[in-house]
Amino acid sequence: MSDRKVSISDPQTGKQIDCDVFEATHGSPAIDISKIHAGTGCYTYDPGYGMTASCRSKITFIDGAKGELLHRGYSIEDLTENSSYLEVCYLLLNGELPSDQGLTEFEGIIRNHTMVHENIRSFFDGFRYDAHPMAMLSTTVAALASFYHDSTDVNNPEHRKITAHRLIAKMPTLAAMCYKFHRGQPFMYPQNNLGYVENFLHMMFGVPAEEYVPSPTAVKALETMLILHADHEQNASTSTVRLAGSSGANPFASISAGIASLWGPAHGGANEAVMNMLDAIVESGESIESTIARAKDKNDPFRLMGFGHRVYKNFDPRARCIEKICHDLLNELGGDQPLFELARELEQKTLADDYFQERKLYPNVDFYSGIIMRALGIPMNMFTVMFAMARTVGWIAHWSEMHEDPEFRIGRPRQLYVGAARRPYPSK
Ligand code: ACO
Repeated sequence: MSDRKVSISDPQTGKQIDCDVFEATHGSPAIDISKIHAGTGCYTYDPGYGMTASCRSKITFIDGAKGELLHRGYSIEDLTENSSYLEVCYLLLNGELPSDQGLTEFEGIIRNHTMVHENIRSFFDGFRYDAHPMAMLSTTVAALASFYHDSTDVNNPEHRKITAHRLIAKMPTLAAMCYKFHRGQPFMYPQNNLGYVENFLHMMFGVPAEEYVPSPTAVKALETMLILHADHEQNASTSTVRLAGSSGANPFASISAGIASLWGPAHGGANEAVMNMLDAIVESGESIESTIARAKDKNDPFRLMGFGHRVYKNFDPRARCIEKICHDLLNELGGDQPLFELARELEQKTLADDYFQERKLYPNVDFYSGIIMRALGIPMNMFTVMFAMARTVGWIAHWSEMHEDPEFRIGRPRQLYVGAARRPYPSK
């Protein structure tokens, strides 16, 4: 119940109902429409759920107009500046930043779960030599369910916690296995004397014949990338995890569903599209002015990849954090500097252009993340896998929150049926 109400009336039938308005800590309140059908006989129509709050959540807040992203109340700028990725994982899962001792314990728990069952290796034998890493990741994550019958009771908080730790710990191991399979190199076991990010880089780029020692700048860049992608409230993949999990499906299957959703080019695949676009500009020698003109031309389907966002109608705050890292990394590793300079010039010219200003189109996180990953030596078909690895904590935090929510029910949207009216079956 709330004091504030909104009336919805249908002048045609004279029916009217008063709906509660639920206040938010930040952002827009939400109208409770649960009685709308009983009161008016109508459902609401909201393709893409753009205007629908599907749940109450305490994890992440985005103010798209201001360009603000908060996790449990802390700004993404503060978190990337002061926290490690595992500290952010703890925050997303538990609601508070850990104490020093709490963080050490949490790191120890994650470290204890980094290995995967040896039989997981055999799954890889079944994949074709050129299998997409996302196909292998979604399959092997779903397969984890077959190893943990002891802890998949979704109604047991302890089981949910162990599963969250297992997933955060094992995702880098699986991600690196997908890469190694692709390269035809032996899988590398995790080394638990290394930090989370260093361990991942060791499993990716180390070989039995030679140790891989990453530079501190590379570790910092990847750590920041993971933090920036850790959660983003009710996006398509997170909503998929919630919807799949709402039936009581096991968490590994639910996260695998999230990975499938993330795979789509409109979601996790955008950074790949940015790299393709930047490479094409370099290869063709096309000027930035002509590229921008094509993006503005309504008769040309081309859009500037890495620009615009469904929620942010201002600078994506993650893009600001990433730009500096990109700069530091390229200065040190001497990566694709011309590509970065091209990206910066494109960004500056676009921001000064009326078309982009009027439509509030700003660079999003993907505009720079591909350049960073390429500088780190991560191939393009692994970009979405990296995103999935980072986002696993967000998915599992939302999945856990859903199971703790007393209002939680199985997800079951309605529809506006516009197909054939009932008709007689043709006589034979
Ligand atoms: N380049 C050129 N014009 C654009 C672009 C772009 N990147 N993005 C939007 N516009 C224009 C549209 O043509 C439209 O113009 P109009 O009003 O004259 O018709 C207007 O801006 C509004 O665009 P919509 O498509 O309605 O905006 P929406 O919020 O639905 O789309 C989206 C957001 C899909 C991200 C879009 O901006 C886009 O396609 N961007 C490029 C792809 C991309 O970078 N995706 C990554 C998203 S971030 C992530 O998923 C992690």
